[in-house]
Amino acid sequence: MSATEIDLTVYPDECDAFGHLNQASFLSLFERARWEMLARGPGMDVFTRQGAWPAVRRTAIDYHAPAFPGDVLRFQQALTHHGRTSFTMRQTARRITDDRLIATAEFVFVCIDRSGRPTPVPSEVGTFMVTRPAEPPGVQRITVNGVSLAVEMRGSGTAVLFIHGYPLDRTMWAAQVAGLDNCRRIAPDLRGFGLSDAPDLGYGMHTYADDLAAILDAQQVDEAVLVGLSMGGYVAFEFIRRHRERVKALILIDTRAEADTPEQRKARDQSASLAREHGAAAITEKMLPKLIAPQNGKAMPHLVERLKAMMQAAPVSGIVGALSAMRDRLDSTLLLSALEGMPTLIIVGEHDEITPVASAEAMKAALPSAELKVVPGAGHMSPMEKPEAVNALLADFLKRLPG
Ligand code: MLT
Repeated sequence: MSATEIDLTVYPDECDAFGHLNQASFLSLFERARWEMLARGPGMDVFTRQGAWPAVRRTAIDYHAPAFPGDVLRFQQALTHHGRTSFTMRQTARRITDDRLIATAEFVFVCIDRSGRPTPVPSEVGTFMVTRPAEPPGVQRITVNGVSLAVEMRGSGTAVLFIHGYPLDRTMWAAQVAGLDNCRRIAPDLRGFGLSDAPDLGYGMHTYADDLAAILDAQQVDEAVLVGLSMGGYVAFEFIRRHRERVKALILIDTRAEADTPEQRKARDQSASLAREHGAAAITEKMLPKLIAPQNGKAMPHLVERLKAMMQAAPVSGIVGALSAMRDRLDSTLLLSALEGMPTLIIVGEHDEITPVASAEAMKAALPSAELKVVPGAGHMSPMEKPEAVNALLADFLKRLPG
């Protein structure tokens, strides 16, 4: 067991009339786990030694399964963001006997002094808490614009930058990163997702775009082919607005150029409230059924599980940040029509419910020189649902690019 893992037993007085661990007790178990962890590490007085106190500013808890008296729960805690005066901690509770996930929680703290003013987070807090799991092979950490981002990199040749959708992470591109040869595949986790930092604030299409440009700088890549899926496409448009000279070609997958309508903007705010109140699980429940074509949902249960795990793992701050970034994004139709001469490929799943074929056709109408390919039998997640078909389209397009 690592220093950030604590086992706690559920007692009868913490349970409701039917024996389930009740909500108030859960909150206090999460809290006990945090203090225990500090007691075993830098000491429970790590804050007061520096005249600081961690005040909870936001809490989101997802309850996945009941727990009963006598259950021993393993609490794991990780810092997902360490700012100057605030930090975010993600905790999970699993029952030891069957490894069942019982609850996940996210707490945002701000350190305050005696008069309630924000004060710096003691550095020992960050040093002690191994903030994230070791990076998987091929994944590097790059610090840009004040956040640490996880970036998967493979191969050499023309740089191809894969930008994931919402609320997903770089692993949605696994089949492309593994399967496309003859190019340098770069697949980052955008801030707020995957293994990247998830600050509380500071999200916008321009921030994502500038993070990506800074990743290219760090890798000494002058020019890349952008491949954006859905929200990744919105980011690609903003990247072109700000860094057009660095774009060699554009691949837009299951995305659209239009901005949100007033109703869609309102729906973004409602989703943000849902995420704040009920966590990533509620967003997952709402979105998952729309992501893949119905027949694939039945035929590929492993794909549904992969997407579900990816979405449930998304930090609330990343979800809320992405929702505000999407809500406020500009319409890119005119930008697209000004891209004459830019090699552009548009791909859309035949059954995409979120950004349907009509959206892809509208992009093609804005930029007639673009190629449009419809992937039969795929929904919104065509690169995951039909990886061979999408890889063949990408490989063919990349092969034809001028050197
Ligand atoms: C995505 O898949 O990235 C989002 O669903 C796009 C959106 O909500 O507009």
